[in-house]
Amino acid sequence: MNYSNIMKEIKTTRDFKSTTVKREILDKIVNEGKASLTDIELEIVLFEDGKKAKENLQGKAGYFGKFIESPHYIAVIGNKDQKAKEKAAYAIEAMRFTAHAENLGTCWITVPDTAEIKNDLSIDSSKNLLAFMAVGIRYSGIFKKDIQEKAFRQGATEIAYLDTWGYSPSWEELEQRGLADIFYFTRFAPSWGNRQPWKFLVANEKVILGVKKDYKEDVELDTGIVKFYFEKSCIDHGINAVISNESSMEDIEAMIGEDYEVRGVYTL
Ligand SMILES: Cc1cc2nc3c(=O)[nH]c(=O)nc-3n(C[C@H](O)[C@H](O)[C@H](O)COP(=O)(O)O)c2cc1C
Repeated sequence: MNYSNIMKEIKTTRDFKSTTVKREILDKIVNEGKASLTDIELEIVLFEDGKKAKENLQGKAGYFGKFIESPHYIAVIGNKDQKAKEKAAYAIEAMRFTAHAENLGTCWITVPDTAEIKNDLSIDSSKNLLAFMAVGIRYSGIFKKDIQEKAFRQGATEIAYLDTWGYSPSWEELEQRGLADIFYFTRFAPSWGNRQPWKFLVANEKVILGVKKDYKEDVELDTGIVKFYFEKSCIDHGINAVISNESSMEDIEAMIGEDYEVRGVYTL
């Protein structure tokens, strides 16, 4: 799969046809999500018949209680910790990319992890509902054209700082480090409310991911998504980005802004 092309093309679909998608295609999408979960135990649940989920979640899930109607939904469930949510987001993006390659539309949906909703969805109450998406055929009929554009994104030179936190490099400077294209694609990462609550610092052969501290809404999901975009862009461009366990995180934390926290350190 060429991830970069999809990063550029993919956008949220909020208007789905009621026509269902073939089971084998839905299985292919779910399997891609499972394949991305090698080092963590999470489950992916397909709601092939989305009707019941739709009835139950109407008014309870989605931004401002606006639920997105679709013939199918997919949830990632498991035990909650920071890493689990990040990985759940990673799996959802892997599935969204596969769905896009199959010419389908997808939408992340914010679903509260409450006992009531887990009961509505027949999910084991001991598990956490980590991430949720809609999948189906984009509506592009005569009366309801799929005219929604991809939402605005910050530029590559706005999401990456060079050498010093706060120094926005020129495109040429990023190119000299061989990272201009990487950030050009990474910036397309979707986020809750499209807030893009992250910045990267390129310094000493490392790329540090800083995510806003005061940011409550699904910050772990946004972190997992931006890691997916950064890591897959690196793969597409032949860069080996290894996430490292730093022995001295204090030194690394001191390199980034006070209102951000380190969520990943890559060695290039
Ligand atoms: C964690 C997360 C939760 C989201 N929840 C919703 C939602 O409940 N309803 C909705 O319409 N869009 C939701 N979105 C979609 C974002 O609004 C969308 O990805 C962002 O605005 C970028 O738009 P684009 O993908 O079309 O470029 C969510 C996205 C993320 C990453």
